[in-house]
This record gives sequence, structure tokens and C-alpha cells, in this order.
Amino acid sequence: MAASLATALTSVSIAQDNLKGLVVGFSQIGSESGWRAAETSVTKQQATDRGIDLKFADAQQKQENQIKAIRGFIAQGVDAILVAPVVATGWDDVLKEAKEAEIPVILLDRGVDAPEDLYLTSVASDQVKEGRVAGQWLVDAVGDKECKVVELQGTVGSTPAINRKKGFEEAIAGHDNISIIRSQTGDFTRSKGKEVMEGFIKAENGGKDICAMYAHNDDMAVGGIQAIKDAGLKPGTDIKVVSIDGVPDIFAAMVAGEANATVELTPNMAGPAFDALSSYLADGTMPEKFIITESKLYTPDDNPQGEYDSRKGLGY
Ligand code: AHR
Repeated sequence: MAASLATALTSVSIAQDNLKGLVVGFSQIGSESGWRAAETSVTKQQATDRGIDLKFADAQQKQENQIKAIRGFIAQGVDAILVAPVVATGWDDVLKEAKEAEIPVILLDRGVDAPEDLYLTSVASDQVKEGRVAGQWLVDAVGDKECKVVELQGTVGSTPAINRKKGFEEAIAGHDNISIIRSQTGDFTRSKGKEVMEGFIKAENGGKDICAMYAHNDDMAVGGIQAIKDAGLKPGTDIKVVSIDGVPDIFAAMVAGEANATVELTPNMAGPAFDALSSYLADGTMPEKFIITESKLYTPDDNPQGEYDSRKGLGY
């Protein structure tokens, strides 16, 4: 082994060793989607692998519960806090309290509208890019044909809902044949996605006027697919389906010809978060403020059965 690689590996394991026995609080949003269930499983596993004692708090989709949990972690004197913030605003006070208590906070998968010095780092995807990738897929798929799009938005006020909308609109801007005719929140859940899509179908000539459904996550897309089928139309053919996450069920839908594209979001936000924490605790190394995960497009050309098989055991 080259000396420099050996040195690097030794310093990684020394750094990782410093996490053993730490107590880390994790304020999770809830379990609204398959993706979030996988993020929870992966975070617990990453903590176990590093010998971290993870205190898990499920906020049942409520910011007030997250704030309560974070205050509880501060009172317990945990060594660090992970938080997946349900919405973007309203975090300043509790983040200041954590800072005053000298507890590093790491944001997972969503951002906040708060001063950057109130958290150590944010591990998330580039959500505007995710929207752009989804929108560009549609631009390429429809060419010059007219295409009326319905949009299932994520949770109101959350950064993925805001940014995925923005990115998609950027991608279709200048393509006058493509327009978003209806847009409503489905709260990132399968059941709400179905309900909202049913309403869109009713309002749009039984769905015959809809060319594509853009969902801010796969779970809403899966709910929407069911609504399309219930209306006697073929998802993936009569109505194109494009969404974000890369959960096993969307790959199963692709295998069935019922979904056309998804943009992958890794559920492993905790791995990079713990690596950053480890280096910070070892010698004060400040991580990048934003650690950006990949946003890869998958279509039926990308072996959806294989993708389904490789993901289905990961806690989704
Ligand atoms: O913040 C990430 C988003 O939140 C995921 O796309 C979605 O499935 C989850 O609920």
C-alpha cells in the first residue's frame, strides 16, 4: 500500500474512533415517505457502525416537536445534534441555544433560513438541480409536442418543495409547448398524492388533458399513478410520470411501464455528516458549509429491476 494512502486511512480511522461512545441526538421529521424511512434506517446503522449512541426523536411532521426534541437534547448535554428540518423558517432561537451550549448541529436533507454560523454543516442534495434534472427529462421526452403538466408539491414551506418547483420551472422556461396547469401540495405522502391527483384528473377532462405528472417525491408519484389507473388511463403512457427520490416502488412502477423517470436522492446523509463531525472534533477542521449529494437521473433504460432488487432491503 502506498505510504500516503496508508497514512490517510490511519488518520480516517483515528478520526472515526473519536466518535465511539458519543451521544448524538437525531430529530427526524417523521415517516411520510419511503425515502425518509430509509434515511432513518441508514442513520441508525451509520451510528451503530461508528459506536455512537443515537437518541432518536420522531417529530410526526411537526416543527414544534422538533424544537422540543432539540431543546431536550441540549438539556441532556448530547455531543452533537442531527436535524432534518421539516420547514425552512423558525429555527433561529433553538439553533442559537445549541450554539450557546457549544453543541454542533448538522442539518440533514433539508435547509433552513437561518444564519450559517448556527450550524456546523448541511448535508443535502442540490434540490434546485433535482427539479432541473426532472424538468430537462420532460423537455427532452416531449420535444415540440404540447404538454400540460400537473405538479404534486412537497410539504409547504420545506426547502425541497420550494427548490424542486423552482428548478423544474427553470428547465421548462423558454419551452412554450410545456406548461404547468395545476400545482398543489401532496405533503410528500402517497395518500395525499393520490387524493390530489384524483382532483387534477377530475378537473382536467378525466385526465385526458394531462400530458405529464411531476411529483416532488416518488411516494406522491406512486399515489398519483394509482389515481391515473383508477381513472382508466395508463400511467407512463397516457400521462408521463417524473419524480424524485429513487425508492424501490418507483423502480417497480418503471418495470411495469407506469413511471418514466426519477432523480435519485441518497438516504445516506448521516455518513458524510458523521465524517464531518469526526474531523471537526478531532482537530477543529471546519467542514464545507454545504455537503452536496449526487442527483442522478434514472429511466427505464437503467435496469429498473436491478435497481429495485438492490434497494429493497435498505429500509425503504
Ligand atoms: O427532504 C427530502 C424529501 O423529504 C424526500 O424527497 C421526500 O421523500 C422526503 O419526505
